[in-house]
Amino acid sequence: MSTEAPPLISVSNSVKRKKVTTQTLRLRKQSGEIISMLTAYDYPTALAIDQAGIDAILVGDSLGMVVLGYANTLPVTMEDMLHHCKAVARGAQFALLIGDMPFMSYQVSTTEAVRNAGRFLQEAGMDAVKLEGGRERLEAVRLIQSAGIPVMGHIGLTPQSVHQLGGFRPQGREAAAAQRLVEDALLLQDAGCFSIVLESLPTRLARLISDRLDIPTIGIRAGAGCDGQVLVTHDLLGLFERFTPRFVKKYADLHAEMGRAFTAYRLDVEGKTFPAEEHSIEMPDSEWQALLNALDHAAG
Ligand code: KIV
Repeated sequence: MSTEAPPLISVSNSVKRKKVTTQTLRLRKQSGEIISMLTAYDYPTALAIDQAGIDAILVGDSLGMVVLGYANTLPVTMEDMLHHCKAVARGAQFALLIGDMPFMSYQVSTTEAVRNAGRFLQEAGMDAVKLEGGRERLEAVRLIQSAGIPVMGHIGLTPQSVHQLGGFRPQGREAAAAQRLVEDALLLQDAGCFSIVLESLPTRLARLISDRLDIPTIGIRAGAGCDGQVLVTHDLLGLFERFTPRFVKKYADLHAEMGRAFTAYRLDVEGKTFPAEEHSIEMPDSEWQALLNALDHAAG
């Protein structure tokens, strides 16, 4: 865990700050400026992330695991996603907002894929969508982006294929698999993706893919050679207690902090030290007396 805390600077009031767009991310890649992205699933977290100056917020289907308590992301529905995207959109003013298309919202047909992608923008205030997969998703990517909806790709460890991949394991460690991933990245770029998430890839493979693409890559467990980085916010904050993936840098331990606060509250309630006078409201004496008189009078 980091020992030196950076200064708490809110950049939300900066007059120069502009809404981040997909074009901003492309220019960042061209100028060699790194891109920051985090996940959020609710209003207060989105607000804090936005005020910290993070470039992009992904409403990830990881919400199934870190917020809804499922074992993986497969049970997450369109309605779950839209509900959380709406909350995030109310909290974030500047960051590029990306809604993650859940399992079975884009795999069945490209028509459904376009319709569901549209709902993220039309109903939930997102600026773009993300979907998982390589060459098998090209038609969906083409049609969604031709409907005016920016699409972020996602290759490598794609959690919606966890059963096919045999678990949450690194990808592209053998030459043939790595070559397929390079090809997939280029195909997704050609199909119109504005950016691609590279998850759980060897560092030099992720760097090679990033170097070969014109569009920015955003890495998670993919080393320092990507054009940007993303983490699941609940991992970064230490809010997800089931496990912390090895690649995560934990910046806080909010699960332990919550435990301390909840225990302190319970002890205060049990010891009758909460609520104290300063947490309570009182009536003026004259009104109190008037009430007692009125009750006496009513009782005859
Ligand atoms: O759902 C998610 O949070 C993601 C990130 C891990 C990239 O897809």
